[in-house]
Amino acid sequence: MNIDIIKHAGAGQFEDTRFEKIHNVVFDDSLEASKIVAHEIADLIKEKAKQKKNCILGLATGSSPIDVYEELVRMHNEEGLSFKNVITFNLDEYYPMEKENIQSYWYFMHEHLFNHIDIIPENINIPDGMIEPDEVKQFCIDYDMKIIDAGGLDFQLLGIGRTGHIGFNEPGSHYNSGTRNITLDHITRVDAAPSFLGIDNVPRVAITMGISTIRKAKRIVLLAWGLNKAAVVKKAIEGEITSEIPSSYLQNHDNCTFVLDEGASQELIRVKTPWLVKPCKWNEELTLKAAVWLSDLKQKSILKLTDTDYNNNGMSNLLVEHNSAYNLNIILFNKLQHTITGWPGGKPNADDTNRPERKDPAQKRVIVFSPHPGDDVISMGGTIDRLVEQGHEVHIAYQTSGNIAVSDEEAMKFAEVTLALNEGNPVVTKLIESLNSKKEYDIDNLEVRKLKSVIRRKESIAANRYLGIPDKNIHFLDLPFYETGTPSKNKLSDEDLKIMKNLILKIKPHQIYASEDLASPHSTHKLCLNSLFSTIKLLKDESFMKDCRIWLYRGAWYEWDIHEIEMAVPMSPDQVLKKRQAIFYHQSQKDGALFQGDDSREFWMRAEDRNRETAEKYNALGLADYAALEAFRRYYL
Ligand code: F6R
Repeated sequence: MNIDIIKHAGAGQFEDTRFEKIHNVVFDDSLEASKIVAHEIADLIKEKAKQKKNCILGLATGSSPIDVYEELVRMHNEEGLSFKNVITFNLDEYYPMEKENIQSYWYFMHEHLFNHIDIIPENINIPDGMIEPDEVKQFCIDYDMKIIDAGGLDFQLLGIGRTGHIGFNEPGSHYNSGTRNITLDHITRVDAAPSFLGIDNVPRVAITMGISTIRKAKRIVLLAWGLNKAAVVKKAIEGEITSEIPSSYLQNHDNCTFVLDEGASQELIRVKTPWLVKPCKWNEELTLKAAVWLSDLKQKSILKLTDTDYNNNGMSNLLVEHNSAYNLNIILFNKLQHTITGWPGGKPNADDTNRPERKDPAQKRVIVFSPHPGDDVISMGGTIDRLVEQGHEVHIAYQTSGNIAVSDEEAMKFAEVTLALNEGNPVVTKLIESLNSKKEYDIDNLEVRKLKSVIRRKESIAANRYLGIPDKNIHFLDLPFYETGTPSKNKLSDEDLKIMKNLILKIKPHQIYASEDLASPHSTHKLCLNSLFSTIKLLKDESFMKDCRIWLYRGAWYEWDIHEIEMAVPMSPDQVLKKRQAIFYHQSQKDGALFQGDDSREFWMRAEDRNRETAEKYNALGLADYAALEAFRRYYL
C-alpha cells in the first residue's frame, strides 16, 4: 500500500493545481482511499510506539471515516496493531446527549472503533453530552488543556459538512475559536435528519473542538466522499479564506491533505474544466464536455461555436486536431442527436447503427431495478411507459422494502383501517399498541416494519398497474442488508447477491436499468448498485449476459451531466402528466416524506424540473425542443 500518495506535496505548485490552496488527492474509490488513510495512522502509531511515546489522535464521526476505522480494526485483529500508546480526542458530541443513545457520537465511536481495539479506556476523550449547562464552559477549557498537556494532536482526522464545517464549527466560527458549545446550522440538521428519523429529533446544539484546537494538529487529513460534498470542497480548496466556510481556514495549515473520491472532486477547476489549467488529451467524452461547457459560457448552440470561441477558452489544441470549429461542431452535434430516442428498447426494423439501443430482438425482456419503491417512476416513469407501450416484457424489481421511510402516522392510518374491518383482531390491536407506545428514537419492531413494507408494496403495485405492468412482473426483493430498522445499513452479504442473481437468472434480461448515485458511499442507492455490479460479475459468463445492456439512471437527487448521457428519452406533455400520476401512487412519500433531504420540492416536482431542465439544455445546444427528457448512461460489462 503506497501511503506516500497522500503525504503533503504542497498545493498549487503544479500547473493544474494552481487554483488550489489545499493539497488534495483524488481516488476512484473511497474504500481504497480510506485504507490508505488508515495505514498512515497505523504507521504513525507504530513510529510513536518505537519512540516509546504516546500517539495523540483527533477523531471524527459521521459517514466519512467509517471505512478508515474498519481498516484500523482489521489491522488490530489481523496484524497485531496495538492502540496501547494511543490517546484519542473526538471532535464533537451533540448536546444534550446521553452516551447510551444510539445517536450519540460516544456510541458511534465505540461501535465502529473502540469496542474492537486494545485502547486503554481512560485514554478515550469525547466531549460529554450530559455535562451540566453551567459547567460546559469549564469543561471546554479543560478539554483544550488536556490536549495541550498530552503534547498536542499528532494527527487530526476530519470530515466536512455541506456548510463547510469541520467538527461542528459552523459558518461564522472564528479562526481562534477553542472548544465550545455551538448552535448547529439548519443544513447540518437536515443532513443528520435521516439518522434521527426526522429533523425535529435532531439536537440544536453540540460541543465542538474549536478551529484553533484543530489547526494546531501537526497533521490533518480531511475525508470527503460523494457529489453532495463537491460544491463545498471546491469552496474550501479554491475559495478565499472566510469564516463562512470554516474548512477554508485549513488553507493556512502547512500539513493538511484533503482525500477525495471522484464525486467530491467534481467541482474543482482541474476536474471540471481541465482545459483551463493545462493542455488536455482529448477523448470523445472530454471533447463533448468541453463543448457543452463552451456553449453554455458563450450562450450559443453547438453549431454556432467559432474557432475564436475554442481558441480563447483553452481548447486550441482540440481545434488543431479537427482543423476547424465547423468540423468539430458537426461531430458533436451528431453525437448528441444520436443519444435521443423515443425507442428505449430499440426500434424494430430500423437501422440501428446510430441508435443507443439495438433493434433485435424486437421484444426485449427488461428488468428495472429500483432501490426503493418509487425510484423507478421518479427517475424513469416516462421510459417505463414507452417500454410497456412498445411491447417489451417489463419487470420492476424493488431492491429494498423502503419501510423506514413510512411515518408512524401513515402506518397508524392503515392499521386503524384494518382494525375497523377486523374488529378485535389481536395482531392489528398489537400493532396499534406498539405504534402508540413507541418512544422517540425507538426502532420499529418487526410487525410495524412489516406493516410499513406492505404499505409501500401496495403503493408500488398500484403505480405499476397504472403503467400497464402485470402484478406477476413486480418483484419485491427485500434485500437483507437494508432490514436494520434504522437508516444505517448492514454490509452487502452473499444472501443479497443470491437474491439478485436468482432474479436475473430467471428473467434473462436483454436490458437492465439501475440507479447510479454518487451522492454518498453508504447510501442505500450505492449499496443497491454495488449489489448489481457484484451479481453481474458472478453472471458474466452466462450467454444471455453477453447480450444484455445495462443502463444507469440517476436517483432522485442528481442528473447526469449532458456529456455523460448516452440515451435521452423524450416525453410528450401528456407523458409528463402520466409520470406524475404514477409517482402520486407512492402516497406515503408525498407531502412531507420522511427522507426528503434539503430539497423542499416533492419528488414529482423534482422529477419534472429535472426532466424539463435536461430538455432545455438539449434545446440550448441546438437540438429539438422537447417538453422533457429522461437520461441514461450505459454501463459496459
Ligand atoms: C463529525 C464531525 C462533522 C462531520 C461532517 C461530515 O465528528 O465533526 O464535521 O465530519 O459533518 O459528516 P459525514 O461524514 O457524515 O458526511
